[in-house]
Amino acid sequence: MPPPVFLDYNAGSPARPEVVRAMAEALAEGGNPSSVHAAGRRAHARIEAARRSVAQLVGAADLVFTSGGTEANALALGGSGRARMLVSAVEHVSVMEAAPEAGIIPVDGNGVVDLGALEHLLKADPRPALVSLMLANNETGIIQPVAAAAEIAHRHGALIHCDAAQTLGRMSVSMSGLAVDFLTISAHKVGGPAGIGALALAHGDLSLAPLLLGGGQERRRRAGTENLSGIVGFGVAAEIAGSELHRGDTILGMARMRDRLETLALARVPQAVVIGRRSARLPNTSCLVLPGVAAETQVMALDLAGVMVSAGAACSSGKVAASKVLTAMGLGPDLAGSAIRVSLGAESGEAEVELFVEAWAELARRKGFEISPAAFAA
Ligand SMILES: Cc1ncc(COP(=O)(O)O)c(C=O)c1O
Repeated sequence: MPPPVFLDYNAGSPARPEVVRAMAEALAEGGNPSSVHAAGRRAHARIEAARRSVAQLVGAADLVFTSGGTEANALALGGSGRARMLVSAVEHVSVMEAAPEAGIIPVDGNGVVDLGALEHLLKADPRPALVSLMLANNETGIIQPVAAAAEIAHRHGALIHCDAAQTLGRMSVSMSGLAVDFLTISAHKVGGPAGIGALALAHGDLSLAPLLLGGGQERRRRAGTENLSGIVGFGVAAEIAGSELHRGDTILGMARMRDRLETLALARVPQAVVIGRRSARLPNTSCLVLPGVAAETQVMALDLAGVMVSAGAACSSGKVAASKVLTAMGLGPDLAGSAIRVSLGAESGEAEVELFVEAWAELARRKGFEISPAAFAA
């Protein structure tokens, strides 16, 4: 039996060894950053060093550490002070549920937000709004035209928040390039620990009402003793991501592996559909449809074969439902209920890709799909 194959990095990537070492050290040393004695001052200094590393990776003026991407989204949507919210139809559930009354900006068949509709929605109601548009989708990897949306939002007096939880280490992210006011990031998608994230701010004069009240931590924007080891781990993960981005080969390598996976998968299972192929996408994410075979069935069969992928968003797995993201792109239930997400990390190689394709093609064969004999040579 070959070793298990992990291709679910969008759900959470394993922590980098350097991250684990730095976290263990921070945990062992302890200290409450609010304490005035030496241990407290050391903990405080570690947090500020991590803040600089994370802020530098995305070009933030300032950031508030949170318990992850979910809380950062809730803080942006709940704390911006804007009464009116507009969110895209393909946002993560943590944005959707934080703004249940929000107006929905539709996406086209390629999964890309309709900027004309955004402008129309903003014109239709003069109340100051907050627009929330993700940078890259967690299920499909499709990248949104955030800078163009920001220009429209600002022209209409709106603020813009961008959920970039899936992007660190997978593309370069610059708050000034995107021209967004708030940016959500999460450590466990970039080789850091789960349970830590941040809401980054583009400039110092943005007001942000706290969700959690109590102590004065995070400059009164998020009460509660800081997650010291998590923040330290996030800082180290951000530094590694920054130097890999600078080198450029990690992203190119992931994109090559992802393209190879899709080419092989389509050759072995010609009826398969790759979602978003005509759109700009993250280099590591592939959303594959085996029409008529429920996503959960595929995930379970692949797991039995030792290959770990997910059905749409990990946060909503466990429920056999059609993907809301794919439904918003206009796919019917037959396709939207049959999509799996294969997401690679920097460590994923040819062997993992081939084992996945082998297992998926075998499942397709059992489900009665024709496989073109010529494809075996691909
Ligand atoms: C796009 C997106 N936003 C937000 C989140 C939530 O982040 P966290 O798991 O850190 O709360 C996720 C997690 O999968 C995500 O993919």
